[in-house]
Amino acid sequence: MSAKIALVTGGAGGIGTEICRTLSREGHRVVTTCAPVFECPNLADWKKNMKAEGFDVPVFEADVADFESCRLAVEQIEKEVGPVDILVNCAGITRDSVLKKMTSDQWQQVLSVNLDSVFNMTRQVFPGMLDRGFGRIVNISSINGRKGQFGQANYSAAKAGMHGFTMAVAQEGIRKGVTVNTISPGYVATEMVKKIREDVLQSIIAQIPAGRLAEPWEIARVVAFLASEKSGFISGANIDINGGQFIH
Ligand code: CAA
Repeated sequence: MSAKIALVTGGAGGIGTEICRTLSREGHRVVTTCAPVFECPNLADWKKNMKAEGFDVPVFEADVADFESCRLAVEQIEKEVGPVDILVNCAGITRDSVLKKMTSDQWQQVLSVNLDSVFNMTRQVFPGMLDRGFGRIVNISSINGRKGQFGQANYSAAKAGMHGFTMAVAQEGIRKGVTVNTISPGYVATEMVKKIREDVLQSIIAQIPAGRLAEPWEIARVVAFLASEKSGFISGANIDINGGQFIH
């Protein structure tokens, strides 16, 4: 299989880091974007660790919530590395609150970082993928976009919206060799999940038939599968990876 250029947004996050490692091991040239404010306060350490592990993943600064920032970042990536063949929309944040206390800022931040970002980034790379006759777009959604979650009206709405985008754009891309798919992870052992209050987290784990959180590699390997040249007949799918927590 030929090596491709893969752009992973939020590549310094818990799932994103493992996606960068896995796609690199598959032989792809991986780059990531990062907005220091939201996604990667420990970026310097992340770069050092990845280098020590033998991964060369350049980081380009971009605020995924901002269209122009994404345009400039992709322009720079294409100039310095080459055209993007694989896009993994992985950047995401939580601002959990019950609706009766949720502020407009908490709503807007989650919708713009988790959902607007998918348009902002995909719009930059999609025309080139169509022209070249190959592309793989993988949107990292969530179990909570499938079933809704108490305290996550913002996050559940954004994550459900991602798959609406996937289904629409899959139809636009498939005849030109561009596939678009969603992955909906359940609760994964990342900093984002470890932030949940301990009693609440334990009650969530009790609802997972597998009896544990997922490991990030269990998500990343499915990204690599969908990104493969051989997965050209899979488009518009939403793949659940949730330990049996939500089956429908
Ligand atoms: N269903 C029904 N009632 C619930 C409930 C649920 N799932 N969870 C809590 N309640 C009840 C509580 O029992 C409590 O009832 P009483 O007032 O009668 O005691 C009431 O609702 C208030 O609950 P909290 O004490 O939890 O309210 P809070 O304001 O202190 O906290 C919260 C709210 C921050 C949203 C907290 O409930 C929470 O952290 N929930 C988990 C949210 C979650 O799953 N986030 C996932 C983050 S990771 C991620 O998003 C990655 C991914 O994709 C999976």
